Amino acid sequence: AIDPNFDQNRERVGEENGVTVWGPVDEPEQLGIHGTHVAVDYDICIADGACLENCPVDVFTWVDTPGHPASEEKVEPTRESQCIDCMLCVDICPVDAIDVDAS
Ligand code: SF4
Ligand code: F3S
Repeated sequence: AIDPNFDQNRERVGEENGVTVWGPVDEPEQLGIHGTHVAVDYDICIADGACLENCPVDVFTWVDTPGHPASEEKVEPTRESQCIDCMLCVDICPVDAIDVDAS
């Protein structure tokens, strides 16, 4: 599962699609965590898609991640500022790849 304390345990290494990336990153096998308020661990995500399909405010966008061992697509939280903290994505993800900081 995603580390809920990633913002203390990892370092910001850049931005992709306007979203903060937390390392370590070693493309294409290791992609880190994308997002801060809504955070997706790209190294855990298997592209199930339930988060994207069910988010009431369309926070997520598909991106291609060719060569990643878990899946060749991931969900980027491109509209994380619109998140209403409903926690649906956190609860629905089958591999616990998402953390939402509702505090
Ligand atoms: Fe969307 Fe709810 Fe997840 Fe926020 S917590 S990204 S509103 S599903
Ligand atoms: Fe990935 Fe979980 Fe969403 S596997 S696509 S973060 S439901």
